[in-house]
Amino acid sequence: MSEPAAEIGLIGLGVMGQNLALNIADHGFPIAVYNRTPARTDAFAGSEEARGLPVTGHAELGSFIAGLSRPRAMILMVKAGEATDQQIDALVPLLEADDLIIDGGNAHYYDTIRRDAALSAKGLRFLGTGVSGGEEGARNGPSIMIGGAADAAQRVDPIFKAIAAQVDSRPCAAHLGPDGAGHFVKMMHNGIEYADMQLIAETYALMQHVLGLDYPAMQAAFAEWHRGDLDSYLIEITADILGKTDAETGLPMVEVILDRAGQKGTGGWAVQAAIEYGAPAATIAEAVAARGLSALKAEREHAAAKLPAGGVGRDHGVSLEALRDALLAAKVCAYAQGFAAMAAASEAHHWDLDFGTIAAIWRGGCIIRARFLDRIVDAYAADPKLPNLLVDPYFVDLLAKAQPGWRAVVAAAAMRGVPVPALSSALAYFDSYRSARLPANLLQAQRDYFGAHTYERVDKPGTFHTDWAKL
Ligand code: 6PG
Repeated sequence: MSEPAAEIGLIGLGVMGQNLALNIADHGFPIAVYNRTPARTDAFAGSEEARGLPVTGHAELGSFIAGLSRPRAMILMVKAGEATDQQIDALVPLLEADDLIIDGGNAHYYDTIRRDAALSAKGLRFLGTGVSGGEEGARNGPSIMIGGAADAAQRVDPIFKAIAAQVDSRPCAAHLGPDGAGHFVKMMHNGIEYADMQLIAETYALMQHVLGLDYPAMQAAFAEWHRGDLDSYLIEITADILGKTDAETGLPMVEVILDRAGQKGTGGWAVQAAIEYGAPAATIAEAVAARGLSALKAEREHAAAKLPAGGVGRDHGVSLEALRDALLAAKVCAYAQGFAAMAAASEAHHWDLDFGTIAAIWRGGCIIRARFLDRIVDAYAADPKLPNLLVDPYFVDLLAKAQPGWRAVVAAAAMRGVPVPALSSALAYFDSYRSARLPANLLQAQRDYFGAHTYERVDKPGTFHTDWAKL
């Protein structure tokens, strides 16, 4: 007797793949699984966790395909890039018209657009799907950002809605638009994630080096903030992290961790995309740059001895409340930049992204889940064409209240020589965005001076050129 056909398949039993497969099976959907190395498939299918669940392991790709009900649907959880293309190439000859491949990895959205077109031309279906939430989210409820044809998304809608995180009885899974839309939104999520993490790291540095707080005090501050407007997963885990002691040395755990951050590239992609669509996302860019600077450990150690901060006073006048306000306001700016970048890309690609839905499905499961996403949902409900989150009435008020503390913090950091690239770039973004007149008039004059690029005037329409050398 052969096994009954599985409703869905999953290829790639890494940590995310295994947890997603368990989550799907746990919700009663029979699942077939396959991994390039059969030993891993065997170990997983025979594991304690998979026991009793409708999980069938396959050693061969052919038997995996044969084990799926038609038209087939299968999720790829393999490494983004070449490995994904290789897996798709191996699958295509085994598939039939209408079979559906769902890429659940962190693919670049241009790859997703290319794969969607290539597979559609073969009569196959494709969804580029961002899955956020790490290991824990994959197992217990991730946030799922689906891109591709609406009818293809419809086919797997019950599975994704069932396995996603649920907030206020609403699943954190949605079809967001065609081709690359899902992976674009996931990439921008990661860009915001980088900014959010960097802002928190800078705040920690200020707590230590400006306020002189010890670890219990820092942990208590983050735990307290988690109960207020800053309530979010990243603030919560930061409080946990700051409370952890290294068993070997007895020191706070973060004190023994090398200050050299890694990155897999999605934050950089988000910045490249924002630049491509002319969307200013400086805080996200600073967060990516900060990881790059952190990686220059040896150079920094060398420079530390040569470049003193200068003789600046210790009188800073910064309170813990001011730090909280700075973090909150800067965080709003990072989200505003991410949403504005998504709006620019949506227009360029005709994705028709619904920002209220995006904010809603980020409220649970994903790394940047936060209480204030409710406010973003409200902002887009009140005005779906809102040009920027900063001008929504709730955020106008929040920024007005946070502004004095934020400015004091950035000023104190500058005077003390504590690097706060994300907090300060967010403030510069805020000040630029709220400036009715910027010094770009001078840029235009310079461009016209050296390149005859022309300029517009404030007092009459048209384009003008000045012969700047003529007296
Ligand atoms: C998630 C995360 C996850 C990962 C990112 C960033 O949403 O679950 O974003 O996808 O953390 O890829 O990783 P790096 O910090 O290594 O670039």
